[in-house]
Amino acid sequence: MRNVMATPSSSAPTDAYAPGLDHYASRHRRDAVKTLWEEPVTFSILQAALSQVPKSTSLSVMDIGCGAGEGLHLLRALHATRALTELPRITYRGLDLDEGLLRLAARTHHEEDDAEFWHGDIRADLPEDHFDLYLSCGVPYSHLTAEELQAALTQVFAAVRRNRTRSVLVVDVLGRYSLEWVSRWDRARWPYRMSFFQSSQEARDVPMTFWDAGGLRDCIRQAARNAGGRIARQQLFDRSIMVGRHTATGQFNSRLAPYRTLVNLLEDGAAVALDDLRAPAVPEQAPPVQRAFFSQLFTQWNDVLDAAGASDRVRRLPAAVGGPMVARGLRAVEHRLSPGLGVGHSLSAVVTIDERA
Ligand SMILES: C[S@@+](CC[C@H](N)C(=O)[O-])C[C@H]1O[C@@H](n2cnc3c(N)ncnc32)[C@H](O)[C@@H]1O
Repeated sequence: MRNVMATPSSSAPTDAYAPGLDHYASRHRRDAVKTLWEEPVTFSILQAALSQVPKSTSLSVMDIGCGAGEGLHLLRALHATRALTELPRITYRGLDLDEGLLRLAARTHHEEDDAEFWHGDIRADLPEDHFDLYLSCGVPYSHLTAEELQAALTQVFAAVRRNRTRSVLVVDVLGRYSLEWVSRWDRARWPYRMSFFQSSQEARDVPMTFWDAGGLRDCIRQAARNAGGRIARQQLFDRSIMVGRHTATGQFNSRLAPYRTLVNLLEDGAAVALDDLRAPAVPEQAPPVQRAFFSQLFTQWNDVLDAAGASDRVRRLPAAVGGPMVARGLRAVEHRLSPGLGVGHSLSAVVTIDERA
């Protein structure tokens, strides 16, 4: 592992990640929702990306906004959990502005020879070298304005074009139409607070940009056009629709039930009143496509609760058995209905760029 503390072209936007240091080091961060609801979606995103990378015994990865190196951890975990037999040798470079998180990354990944962490700014310091995978996770691109994101993605398209390769780009951002912040749906950029961090330090407001499918597709298409690049394939994924971390804080929607807390209890086999888990009314401010989606999701979600409540067999089960069974049903509904519309906590685009020949 090499930690490269180059001077970035611009300074950190805020010290927003000071409490994040405790959070990323905390074992409580990986709650049941993260491991059973969110990581499977993350793994599907990674798998979709890796299936597009040319087959090889090695995989070069640029993790943009890498923080403490979660992308590297996820890639390794993907291989472990999905028991992939052909494990490519990963050469990994992380780029981030936050020195504290980079130091944590260095401590966490110190035994991995092929990992480097670079101090730099997404907006100015993207390297020109070839990478098979331009990864992002944990919504780093949402720190950028729409114009900055388009400019950064233009740099990626330009690098792939210059290198005449096939590469995959994962763009991970916050979803505009998450239930966690219904009252903010009318704005694309607003002061966000990561008050879910597992830390005694108070989180501060940070301006973040929120994306729906149309906006993100347009931004990516324009970036490709700017660089004269070619999009060979594009897929979008929603992650954490009913159970985003701000359902537990109530920070931006105090009327929403604390679904994440309740689902964590269910998954852990604690007793939960199923009525507390019922879906809310479909928000009237939702655009038509998102409204139709929520209507379908909420119907199927409530059907699972109704079926569990009506079933003598389930009601007689101890909470330790019945709870996880109901949670599994709810989880299946969320995983089945994730259309990549920007209706979850995060929205990810997997973009295949092919500039060979
Ligand atoms: C929520 S964290 C995600 C970190 C990591 N990818 C993960 O999944 O845990 C977002 C990261 O983006 C980084 N970031 C924000 N703006 C940046 C910029 N302009 N250049 C580089 N990194 C940036 C932050 O420092 C932070 O580490």
